[in-house]
Amino acid sequence: MKKRNHKKESSHFFFNRFTLNHLFIVCYLGVINVYAQSNTAVEEKITRIISKMTVDQKIGQLALRGTSSRSKDLPEQLKQDVKNGKIGAFLNVMNKAYVDELQRIAIEESPQGIPLIFARDVIHGFKTIFPIPLGLAASWDAETAKSAARVSAIEASSFGIRWTFAPMLDIAQDSRWGRIAESPGEDPYLASILAKAYVEGFQNNDLSQPTSLAACAKHFIGYGAAIGGRDYNTAIIHQPLLHNTYLKPFEAALAAGAPTVMTSFNEINGVPASGNKWLLNDILRGKLDFKGFVVSDWNSTTGMIDHGYAKNEKHTAELSFNAGLDMEMTSKSYENHLKELLEEKKITETQLDFLVANILRVKFQLDLFKNPYRSKTFTGNYYDQKHLDLAKKAVIKSSVLLKNNAILPLNKNTKVAVIGPLANAPLEQLGTWIFDGDKKHTQTPTSAFTNNKVNFKFTEGLSYSRDTSTQGFKKALEIAEASDVILFFGGEEAILSGEAHSRASIDLPGKQEALIKALAKTGKPIVLVIMGGRPLSITNIIDDVDAVLMAWHPGTMGGPAIYEMLWGKSEPQGRLPVSWPKTAGQLPLFYNHKSTGRPFDPKSFVQMDSIPVGAWQSSLGNTTHYLDLGAAPHFPFGYGLGYTRFSYKNLKISKTTISKNETVSLSVTITNTGKNAGSDIVQLYIQDIVGSLTRPVKELKRFKPIFLEKGETKTVEFTITPKDLMFVNNTLQPVLESGDFNVFVGNNSANTLKTTFTLN
Ligand code: BGC
Repeated sequence: MKKRNHKKESSHFFFNRFTLNHLFIVCYLGVINVYAQSNTAVEEKITRIISKMTVDQKIGQLALRGTSSRSKDLPEQLKQDVKNGKIGAFLNVMNKAYVDELQRIAIEESPQGIPLIFARDVIHGFKTIFPIPLGLAASWDAETAKSAARVSAIEASSFGIRWTFAPMLDIAQDSRWGRIAESPGEDPYLASILAKAYVEGFQNNDLSQPTSLAACAKHFIGYGAAIGGRDYNTAIIHQPLLHNTYLKPFEAALAAGAPTVMTSFNEINGVPASGNKWLLNDILRGKLDFKGFVVSDWNSTTGMIDHGYAKNEKHTAELSFNAGLDMEMTSKSYENHLKELLEEKKITETQLDFLVANILRVKFQLDLFKNPYRSKTFTGNYYDQKHLDLAKKAVIKSSVLLKNNAILPLNKNTKVAVIGPLANAPLEQLGTWIFDGDKKHTQTPTSAFTNNKVNFKFTEGLSYSRDTSTQGFKKALEIAEASDVILFFGGEEAILSGEAHSRASIDLPGKQEALIKALAKTGKPIVLVIMGGRPLSITNIIDDVDAVLMAWHPGTMGGPAIYEMLWGKSEPQGRLPVSWPKTAGQLPLFYNHKSTGRPFDPKSFVQMDSIPVGAWQSSLGNTTHYLDLGAAPHFPFGYGLGYTRFSYKNLKISKTTISKNETVSLSVTITNTGKNAGSDIVQLYIQDIVGSLTRPVKELKRFKPIFLEKGETKTVEFTITPKDLMFVNNTLQPVLESGDFNVFVGNNSANTLKTTFTLN
């Protein structure tokens, strides 16, 4: 086919293809957008398109062709494949001219003129990088997550990207797992609130808008339950647990309108997710009523051969196809084998049509049939001041103050020694999955200190987080001696977390502990600012430092936000979305564990060092604990300090007995008893004391942020509904069981007031 004038041709093309039905043309070219049209009209169009497609073209729609995230060229073969209708979507085409060209070929030259979708991992920012998702989770704030997603969508859509592989919704209880950095943390309720916010932010409540990205809820499912925190590892999750915990954020994302779901690399209970019919068909399409399309993860279909589940590539295709996996990412088992499988009657064309329809439906929702091209005039407003302001706010919302011996906030004229490998590390502070973020735009702590005329001297001491050379210690000690306060910026480089970056130890890498210990000997107060992709063990140095601020990998605006927090122009507002371990040996660790038959009791705990040598064997302490450290985390889920103090009193409950269709209200009185105005997050947990399936010791059910002036008192109210008390039981039925419930209200999962009620 000759090259044609594309502008003129495209409308002509539309007429050619769809003249069959007058009504269709009216809808197609009309002012109302496709998304706003009735589902029936769209479904009719889909059926009509499919009726014209050959089997090869149908199979082509199921292909998500990947180029590497670094790829710079557009191979001729790709163009040919698009022209032949062999590709339905692309990931990682990061050259605007190529995006335009590939789309033009799809629209003008491919057999049915079906638009392509361009996808990318836009995870916590495109150009303007926000804190890593675990950091955003620490904000406990839907608006913060939503703003990150919205800014990401605006910037990324300028490249023609209309589909992001986010939000990642894997509940994660193990900080060894590198991808905890991308996760919403350990709690299904918090994760569900974030899931909804991300979807709303990416999609802006109208997928047809050119700056909306289709969200992809991933990874379905149980990826975060990888045994031992080793990436890609086996997950064993019994079905009620799957429903009560792991599925929750996915349900929320789907309810918010996420039109796509990505399968996970892992097997769950012996069956890899990408060939798991029960998971994709019965659970996702059945129970969750999902109407969008399912995409595999990168080669996760052919990965089933390594799992020992598929015999070969052809078998892979059969399993995934019959499980209901619509689109295959990068691997080509569908392209190479579906036709043959059809001929052999191992799969049906009806199912093929079903998968194609699921994909076309999303293309219609994105309005790509009408508006396939990215705007040539829209620049994406990269690093726009508004975007930077939102990114800075997100850092303040998500940074967690773990310790403060009244050293923070610092006084204006404090003479500061800035030391550590992450004080001026523009790339490292951006974190994992930041393909498009430009480190030249990163504002580091040292640059922010310079801009704000802080009285400081800087030396890294260690040139990167894993550095084991002590050469820089001397200079570090010199500037420390000459300062009032040491600010140590430690943690881990971006590359130490994220996919395939699990760690067996979660200690500060390299010689960081040694340097902190040496600095402590100067007697100067130390403020430790951590940048990292996971909670890191700071047990060995916690007593050497006066304050600890967890900034996660904070993104582009880490520096200015950290400056504001350290000098008290802003208060750190984050609360832990995961339990912070003392050591890796405690992992997995999560607050919403079961009670066990021998619950941990600090009163009977016998610490290892107090056991006499040659002691007679006995069940010391007799509870669920470790001899060397007990059972508690270093910092509990929900924990975080600010620059004031609050007292929680008078937890009141509206009724002590309710029936199964009644709600119950609770109120608590909170007073700011500290020296400054400040904010807190009031958290409500429930325990179903006796259940037909044992229930967690606490489950987060509500939370509310509050802001109180110094000395101010406020009453915060919550309402609990019967739905909050339900769970999925052993027969997989949602049940509401009579009995006694504990209600806990406080400012973290371990520091709560308690009351009870009975459900009749
Ligand atoms: C990751 C996904 C990601 C995909 C595409 C995979 O390796 O597991 O989360 O979306 O690559 O880049």
